[in-house]
Amino acid sequence: MSTLSIRCRMSLSSRASHAVRAVVRHSPLADPLRRLIRRDPLQGIFDLGRRCGWDAAAAALIGSTDLDRLLPHDWHARLRRTINTDIATELLLTAVRRRLVIGGVQWCKDAKLSDLVATLLQQCINNELVWRASREEHIALDWHAEQVQSRPRWVVFVQKCLYDRIERVAAEASAGAELYDEMPDVFRGIVSAALDEATARRSWRDRIPSIGSAEDGYAEVVSLYEEYPYPRWLDWQIPSRGTRRLDVAAWGGDAAFADPERPLDVLVAGCGTGSKAIAYAFGYGDHTRITGIDLSRASLAYAAVMAEKYGVRSLELLRANLLESSRLGRQFDIVECTGVLHHLPDPEAGLAALAEVTKPGGLVHISLYSELARTEIARLRRGHEVRIGDISDDEVRAFRWNLMQDDPDAIDRRLSLRWDFFDLVRCRDLLFHPLEHRYTIPEALALLHSAGLEFCTIEPPPPPLDRLWVRYPSGEELRNPQAWHQFELRYPEAFGNLYEIWARKPA
Ligand SMILES: C[S@@+](CC[C@H](N)C(=O)[O-])C[C@H]1O[C@@H](n2cnc3c(N)ncnc32)[C@H](O)[C@@H]1O
Repeated sequence: MSTLSIRCRMSLSSRASHAVRAVVRHSPLADPLRRLIRRDPLQGIFDLGRRCGWDAAAAALIGSTDLDRLLPHDWHARLRRTINTDIATELLLTAVRRRLVIGGVQWCKDAKLSDLVATLLQQCINNELVWRASREEHIALDWHAEQVQSRPRWVVFVQKCLYDRIERVAAEASAGAELYDEMPDVFRGIVSAALDEATARRSWRDRIPSIGSAEDGYAEVVSLYEEYPYPRWLDWQIPSRGTRRLDVAAWGGDAAFADPERPLDVLVAGCGTGSKAIAYAFGYGDHTRITGIDLSRASLAYAAVMAEKYGVRSLELLRANLLESSRLGRQFDIVECTGVLHHLPDPEAGLAALAEVTKPGGLVHISLYSELARTEIARLRRGHEVRIGDISDDEVRAFRWNLMQDDPDAIDRRLSLRWDFFDLVRCRDLLFHPLEHRYTIPEALALLHSAGLEFCTIEPPPPPLDRLWVRYPSGEELRNPQAWHQFELRYPEAFGNLYEIWARKPA
């Protein structure tokens, strides 16, 4: 396939799919859209919440005799499978949880309410307990724990797990097999899946091989990712085998990368929990060897469990410092490094180390925070400067809560918030990371040049929501950083948070 035909394919197919991708990628719109397209059975409850408060809405929902219609099977299935990204749903379910616990509702005696609690429990696991809880709820939880005679033990256990990590609650309860035997199947399934996953990760932690010292002197960032492996992910839209080769050939401007038979050696530097490395394993398809390195053992263990789950064998995971990539003793056709360099004390040194292990003619993909797109985030961070890097989970929860109370619709409108606001780990990373550099496109270009790399292009972001017909750089402009800079000045929020930049090491 010629470079030209790849370019045409890129501009036509990417433009044609922008509108669809905008909706799919910005998943928070999915719920409001769903409501628009077909009347949501919960619409009346949401209206009540907005008019009279979410406690009233929660009371109406819990007291309803029509729960089957209000909460159909697909509502439960979606919330058990995904991380909720709809603000009205979060406000309602937070109030439901509060009411169940403070009001001492005997939900375990009602099959429909038990189903609702099971969905709440799975959602709390999915979003890493990102919902804010009041002091009264914690007092009520302690009180329930003392009423051992009047409540089954498993009910107290499940209620606690709505507010705390299951592993911790299980350890504290020194829960024996009898406790799990008492639970109805739906709860036992959720609890044992979460505990099995935690056990699998623990067993992987010390089995991941290590290269080099894996120390680089900024303990704060390393301990952040040990405590909060990033990103938390549940499932992934698996790309069709080999399709990434076509995209990469287009972005890198080199048709040779589209050849499905070409052996590829790919490095994923700072692979975190492996969500992208595993998608790349499918996307690059056969004849690919992928090496994922990271400093965080907890993240690598997460990635190893997920790789097993998805049956990915072409991914090798190593604990290593990307600054010491040369210790891998290999050169790579493609180096992928997303969301990492802007958290390093010295991003130039990081990129230079990656350029060193890239084969001549090879490609480097980095994502970097955009100064312009993160203007709003920077403003929000400024208000919390003192606490950044040392902020508790409860403070993150309270911060989100206050933002949602102030102007919930604004969260949907802010592109920069849309992706990473709805689970604890991503939200912490998005807003409270102890170390972040932000770039303009000319500054990103200077960073590439400092490592001896040539600019190829930036992946076109989805169109801003209020302007679906955006004029993107096209044709020769795709390779012109100035054209992208002008584009960003015209649409300052367009990149959401990050530039996805492709560069090439001169042959
Ligand atoms: C924000 S996460 C990004 C994870 C993944 N690349 C993604 O895009 O989903 C940053 C990751 O970089 C890792 N990291 C930070 N400094 C590193 C270094 N010097 N060498 C290797 N990994 C590093 C962290 O442990 C963390 O897992």
